[in-house]
Amino acid sequence: MENFFTMDDFEVNSTWKVHIIPFQKILILYIHDIYKNPYRVYEYLKQAPIKTHKDVTKDSVNGKDFADGQHLVDNRWDVSRLHLYDKIREFYGITVEGGQVGHGAANTDDHLVPFSRYNQFRLNSDHPGEDKFFHPHQDNIINCCTYLNPDVGDHAGTVLYSTESSDPCDELEHEKPWRTMDDGFRPELSIMSKFNCMAVFPGQIYHGQNIVGNHFKEQTRFTEVVFF
Ligand SMILES: [Fe+2]
Repeated sequence: MENFFTMDDFEVNSTWKVHIIPFQKILILYIHDIYKNPYRVYEYLKQAPIKTHKDVTKDSVNGKDFADGQHLVDNRWDVSRLHLYDKIREFYGITVEGGQVGHGAANTDDHLVPFSRYNQFRLNSDHPGEDKFFHPHQDNIINCCTYLNPDVGDHAGTVLYSTESSDPCDELEHEKPWRTMDDGFRPELSIMSKFNCMAVFPGQIYHGQNIVGNHFKEQTRFTEVVFF
């Protein structure tokens, strides 16, 4: 049945090919072949409605110019998933205290294995222009981002930015989503997207999803995100 899914559909592989990429003073991990059946995960995600996980404020354009949401799946039963995130935490020297990992409210429901948070992003109107990029921001200590679109090529990944301003980040992701270099951000590295691959990088580096052109007007961008 096409619209019936089982736990097997979400199982991750138990071995991985990993590239370690030095960038400035940090190390980026690029981990290949995360899911055993990534097309099943993709089929599942295509059927999920987009629901925002952030407040829709008076000036928000979420739900208007674009739809930005997150879909949660509990895949914590998967032992290989535990091993994968254990290895990532070990690599970056992140310790587990009292059986809990994670920093901030977004992770309070997580234990050793985080929930699967699938980010969904879809343009409703045309991309605003090639000089515009989507809201650079900071997150927690470590970001893990798995790319889950098989048909968008390699340019739909994550861009890392430098900034000369001491505090350029505002919280206006959905009110003022599109930025230019005039906002003080300079693109430094574009992490390529490859279907079923995960990029891991320190979340304190300013970063943003790479939305170029109207690819995501025709289909929704799916990424699984985990923060430590
Ligand atoms: Fe982020």
